[in-house]
Amino acid sequence: IHKQQSCWQNTQVLFELMLMSLLVPTIAQSDSSVAVMSVDLGSEWMKVAIVKPGVPMEIALNKESRRKTPIAVCLKENERLFGDSALGSVKNPKFVYRHLQSLLGKKHDNPQVAVYQKRFPEHHLVTDESRGTVLFSNSEEMQYSPEELLGMVLNYSRGLAQDFAEQPIKDAVITVPVFFNQAERRAVLQAAQMASVKVLQLINDNTAVALNYGVFRRKDINSTAQNIMFYDMGSGSTTATIVTYQTVKTEESGSQPQLQIRGVGFDRSLGGFEMELRLQDHLAKLFNEQKKTKKDVRENHRAMAKLLKEAQRLKTVLSANAEFMAQVEGLLDDMDFKAKVTRVEFETLCADLFERVPGPVQDALSSAEMSLDEIEQVILVGGSTRVPKVQEVLLKAVGKEELGKNLNADEAAAMGAVYQAAALSKAFKVQPFLVREATVFPIQVEFTSEMEEDGSRILKHNKHILFQRMAPYPQSKVFTFNHTDDFAFNINYGDLSFLGQEDLSVFGSLNLTTVQLSGVGSSFQKHTDAEYKGINASFNMNESGVLLLDRVTLNQSLPCLNSVSFDLSELGNTISNLVVTCQTPSDFRGFESVGVMAKLFDRLIDRGLSPGYLQIRCNNVCFLPVRLQDLTDRDLKKQEREKTLNSLEAFLFDTQDKMYQEEYQAVVLEEEKETILAKLSQVSTWMDEDGYSASTKELREKLRYLRKLCRDMFFRVEERRKWPGHLATLESMLNRSSFFLSSKLVSEDDRIFTDVELKTLEKVINETSTWKNNTVAEQEKSSPTEQPVLLSKDIESKWALLDREVNYLLNKAAKPKAAKPKTAKAAKPNNNSTTERSSSKANSSKMEEKVILPKEETKDEGGKVGKTNTFLLWNMCFIYRGHVQ
Ligand SMILES: *[C@@H]1O[C@H](CO)[C@@H](O)[C@H](O)[C@H]1NC(C)=O
Ligand SMILES: *[C@@H]1O[C@H](CO)[C@@H](O)[C@H](O)[C@H]1NC(C)=O
Ligand SMILES: *[C@@H]1O[C@H](CO)[C@@H](O)[C@H](O)[C@H]1NC(C)=O
Ligand SMILES: *[C@@H]1O[C@H](CO)[C@@H](O)[C@H](O)[C@H]1NC(C)=O
Ligand SMILES: *[C@@H]1O[C@H](CO)[C@@H](O)[C@H](O)[C@H]1NC(C)=O
Ligand SMILES: *[C@@H]1O[C@H](CO)[C@@H](O)[C@H](O)[C@H]1NC(C)=O
Ligand SMILES: *[C@@H]1O[C@H](CO)[C@@H](O)[C@H](O)[C@H]1NC(C)=O
Ligand SMILES: *[C@@H]1O[C@H](CO)[C@@H](O)[C@H](O)[C@H]1NC(C)=O
Ligand SMILES: *[C@@H]1O[C@H](CO)[C@@H](O)[C@H](O)[C@H]1NC(C)=O
Repeated sequence: IHKQQSCWQNTQVLFELMLMSLLVPTIAQSDSSVAVMSVDLGSEWMKVAIVKPGVPMEIALNKESRRKTPIAVCLKENERLFGDSALGSVKNPKFVYRHLQSLLGKKHDNPQVAVYQKRFPEHHLVTDESRGTVLFSNSEEMQYSPEELLGMVLNYSRGLAQDFAEQPIKDAVITVPVFFNQAERRAVLQAAQMASVKVLQLINDNTAVALNYGVFRRKDINSTAQNIMFYDMGSGSTTATIVTYQTVKTEESGSQPQLQIRGVGFDRSLGGFEMELRLQDHLAKLFNEQKKTKKDVRENHRAMAKLLKEAQRLKTVLSANAEFMAQVEGLLDDMDFKAKVTRVEFETLCADLFERVPGPVQDALSSAEMSLDEIEQVILVGGSTRVPKVQEVLLKAVGKEELGKNLNADEAAAMGAVYQAAALSKAFKVQPFLVREATVFPIQVEFTSEMEEDGSRILKHNKHILFQRMAPYPQSKVFTFNHTDDFAFNINYGDLSFLGQEDLSVFGSLNLTTVQLSGVGSSFQKHTDAEYKGINASFNMNESGVLLLDRVTLNQSLPCLNSVSFDLSELGNTISNLVVTCQTPSDFRGFESVGVMAKLFDRLIDRGLSPGYLQIRCNNVCFLPVRLQDLTDRDLKKQEREKTLNSLEAFLFDTQDKMYQEEYQAVVLEEEKETILAKLSQVSTWMDEDGYSASTKELREKLRYLRKLCRDMFFRVEERRKWPGHLATLESMLNRSSFFLSSKLVSEDDRIFTDVELKTLEKVINETSTWKNNTVAEQEKSSPTEQPVLLSKDIESKWALLDREVNYLLNKAAKPKAAKPKTAKAAKPNNNSTTERSSSKANSSKMEEKVILPKEETKDEGGKVGKTNTFLLWNMCFIYRGHVQ
């Protein structure tokens, strides 16, 4: 295995080098957001690849730096996880949704739904009443369709691609299993639509592989056809595909390489996952036999999920080793599990599966009408082809010397798909490689017509094949009806007898849609003079393998149309009679809804007046994307709730703890303490019982209530903590201000300040000191359990007042000229000492500059004193501010 892998990896490097020359961006690198992506959607894993200018095809690594990501969504009450993180929640398998592929587009009564239910008993599947399909149901509010969940996965995959490409990505090519029918394809398209991922194409995974193979072997492709078989065994299914490579001449660009899908055989349920389930079952049996506990391990979902995980590991290891010790710690009731499993045992468990290995090969050959001799090579694809027994059986079945292992078995589909994405995107110039897809399930039109036979009118049932099995697509087909009256026709799958009984039952309804045409008769009657050439229904199997009824045309040459000026209203009347209605079974198989009369006039004129042209749009009005966005919004709400929940939990924990700390105990009376503790424990109990289902609002209210309850206690503790520092600062400021008052600066000779100014400061100092002495004394008398008298905010406002007063004077001293008593007086006509000084802090922070900078100015004054003053001022200010801050 290891050797194989490294060989594949080398091939990959080579591929990438070759690609540099294959993919040439047509848009300059600076033009951002031209990157495109592919998603290879398997049943268990997805691989995402990107192309962007300067970066040829590359697998986008996921958040764990892995090249593949499990298709899994975990939707818990409060979070949404994807990929490995989602699977990590083995603890609660009922919130983890995976293996969605097998449920897409299936009605509830589909046997595949029953199989799913058996495999994942932890999930509760209910019927979607409007469509007959299934919904995962965890509760009334938590119901998800497989399409929605896949939509989430696709949106996540786009996120991975964007992170890797470092730019936004909209366009994608998504792979689907070749055996996906119309309903299944539409389900994937719907999922993509919900995720706002623009699907350039749904590509069959086998075609993507074949394209990847062909692109790197261009030079080996010539006009001689080469037939290659790809044998792809993945996790959920197995496909054999016969592809013919050759160059073909095209009108526009000469000779070009082409691949054509010639034959397809598949087994919808043969794959690695089934092998893992067998191993899981085996391990469960071994554990029960060990009788470590009385319980049956099969009845415990969590233990079974652990066993499945171990079975996966076991399968991988047994591919390279003859035996292995399976082990799970604390599997059930804390009992560990350990048991040896040999490869021979594994092969016995899966014997019937290995017998099915040649089936797809035979089916592919018969659908291609080829024999094995015509196949040059059989190439292995898909992780499960690593199982030695699979290779052994296959080799024998195909009778070749060896099986081709020269393709990256895991990533070829993602790489082929991203090549196609680049080819379809206008941003890249890609060397063309023609792809001719093939219809796997034939499609036919059925209707009843009246016939005249031996003079009497009889009803005849007609069947006409529109797309045969293996008919190439994309392709349009026009079917002409010769009805002259209103009628209906059915679009159905054709002969599917090549499917086994089981596949047929999984396939579901064979009817795609019923189309009802009305207004045909009246139109015909109205213009009996016109030449009638029937009604054309034009069908299109588009690039995604989705069947569309493009339009229905009434071929009647109206006389008025031949004249230069025709009567629009006349034309309108004629056409509006023709109404096309598609009626589709409720599970949206085929066409989704009732057809709509399109706007007609523009189109008629556009189309050179071809009569009765009617565009049919059978678009389902899709309400689901809204729901997906709702889910994203809900995620945000849940995060909000989570935050509140955490805050409440933290509050409870912290406060309960604090109630036993000395600091807190000191400030509460026994009674208050009891009350708080009782409430805390009450809310704690409520949290344990109802808290996890409580709304954000309820949680917030509880938190608000508790905060209010404890507010006074917290306040007392906070205040006491602040006292020492605050009082020291105030004291120091009082000292500095007093020192300032008594300094040389204010001595008689050199008066800068007025008496009023100095008195004001003195008064403030006195008052502050008195206040401090009194309040501290009062506080000392009062009990710590009462609301404090000495408040930190009061201390702050006291020192702010001092600060303001001193700063005012310092400012004045720093500008001797402007600070003449006269000016100062003029500035305060009311003698209101605080008027001019009110903006204290802002002023004082500029103060230092002002004091240092005007040196020159003071020098000009010629005063020695000036210099000294400035120095002193600056120094004082420095000390002073140092204390405040
Ligand atoms: C094919 O038709 C489906 C259904 O109308 C549409 O959603 C899809 O985009 C089409 N795909 C391509 C590649 O044209
Ligand atoms: C086409 O290529 C194959 C080898 O890939 C070679 O055997 C064959 O002769 C070539 N045929 C033509 C017509 O060049
Ligand atoms: C169409 O039907 C008319 C009678 O309804 C008949 O005369 C005519 O031959 C039919 N044409 C074809 C092509 O079947
Ligand atoms: C399915 O198609 C067949 C054949 O056209 C028709 O007889 C039958 O009524 C259709 N069933 C439904 C449910 O439309
Ligand atoms: C209707 O179909 C017939 C046969 O395919 C074709 O000859 C004719 O041109 C079509 N008419 C229109 C209006 O498309
Ligand atoms: C898709 O995922 C992105 C994050 O990668 C998120 O912002 C966006 O809302 C999601 N879209 C939907 C429809 O959930
Ligand atoms: C400030 O207090 C001292 C004594 O503590 C007193 O002499 C002085 O007059 C007081 N000054 C003012 C303005 O109240
Ligand atoms: C306040 O108390 C201190 C010492 O406790 C004392 O020096 C000061 O003069 C007092 N102040 C007043 C205004 O009483
Ligand atoms: C001084 O001004 C302040 C604010 O402008 C004012 O509240 C106060 O009453 C004034 N005092 C005098 C004595 O005018």
